[in-house]
Amino acid sequence: MQTVDDSKIESASGSQPAVPVHIAVIMDGNGRWAKARTMPRHAGHRSGVKAVRRIVEVAAKRGVSYLTLFAFSSENWRRPKEEVSRLMNLFLDALQREVDDLHRNNVRLSFIGARDELQQGLVQKITLAEEKTKDNSGLNLIIAVAYGGRWDIVAASKKIASRVAADELALADIDDECLAGELALAGKPDPDLLIRTGGEQRISNFLLWNLAYAELWFCDCLWPDFSERHFDEALSYFSSRQRRYGHTGEQVGVA
Ligand code: IPE
Ligand code: IPE
Ligand code: MG
Repeated sequence: MQTVDDSKIESASGSQPAVPVHIAVIMDGNGRWAKARTMPRHAGHRSGVKAVRRIVEVAAKRGVSYLTLFAFSSENWRRPKEEVSRLMNLFLDALQREVDDLHRNNVRLSFIGARDELQQGLVQKITLAEEKTKDNSGLNLIIAVAYGGRWDIVAASKKIASRVAADELALADIDDECLAGELALAGKPDPDLLIRTGGEQRISNFLLWNLAYAELWFCDCLWPDFSERHFDEALSYFSSRQRRYGHTGEQVGVA
């Protein structure tokens, strides 16, 4: 039987670290932010990029090791063509503009999602950015583009199935660890905290597997308005949680 490893119990006992190792963020509300100003939706997305810059800075300052940002979901392809194409151009521009700065700030940049669905130019920029920053030792910034939790689990399952079919893996050896090892975030710790702006309290097909034990923090603030103050509120909420991973409060040290 699979059990949660003991390091999780230790981290749950008494001294909950004030700062999560890994924070995942669903950056929602750009469209509504623009609408409230009678601006087109893409103006909200542009303003959202500035909020990304702010959160990256504050996350690094507070000592977060991994920051995973949901920029475009598998389902966002369903949006009007014009919005999708403006978003893709915005990603391209932002990457072009920000990579050098991120590199100077020792940020290691990586992307998760279905790259085969993205235009060639963007995939090239992504690959170059990952290559350029791969030896940096500061904040790990992970951008989820064309990403879906279900896509991730299906892709991992296919890899496992092909290893079984090739007799490289026995059915009996498929466990949590094996599946996690094939997911987009393989080798990275699960998010400790999920932040979602924009007022909705749902996961919207983000990191379905990896968020199993994340603490969830929702706020009504629309993404372009997200500031250091909101970030610190989320950290403060996180530090007040007792993480039990299925144990009782007594087992993890605090009743
Ligand atoms: C989040 O903001 C950005 C993306 C999903 C690309 P939205 O565009 O979903 O903004 P709302 O939810 O319509 O306000
Ligand atoms: C989730 O936001 C995806 C991103 C923030 C990239 P959506 O706006 O797409 O989510 P729903 O449709 O309201 O669930
Ligand atoms: Mg939305």
